[in-house]
Amino acid sequence: MMNTKQTNIINLIAKIGWIAFSALFFFAGSAVCSGATDEGERLFEKKCSTCHSIKKPKSKAMTEAEWHSTILRMKSNGADLSRQDIEQIVAHLAKNYPRK
Ligand code: HEC
Repeated sequence: MMNTKQTNIINLIAKIGWIAFSALFFFAGSAVCSGATDEGERLFEKKCSTCHSIKKPKSKAMTEAEWHSTILRMKSNGADLSRQDIEQIVAHLAKNYPRK
């Protein structure tokens, strides 16, 4: 059997290992996610700044459905948006400018 001191050390090593392990996944996970949202942000800045300032949408706070219908309205206003552009931009805006 192990004595208490050994058990404590093992517990400590296990804890440190767990923290390091979690941190690794946290950073790996956020790197993957930011890759996806960066594309939405890039499209947003490119496609939504031609007719009016980007500040116009940035000053708004809407639900995903509201962002979607606003962006469809922009398409009928003449914005050059594919269905994929719309999805990515809606995801970016709904995440970063949600209704509070
Ligand atoms: C072809 C020109 C054009 C482009 C490109 C464009 N908009 Fe607009 N936007 C307009 C016009 C015109 C208005 C004012 C009339 C209206 O609200 O439909 C407007 C208004 C807005 C408003 C204010 C609406 C309100 O309810 O006060 C928001 C938010 C907005 N645009 C977001 C966006 C976003 C997000 C994009 C990118 C997907 C975008 N716009 C791209 C023309 C454009």
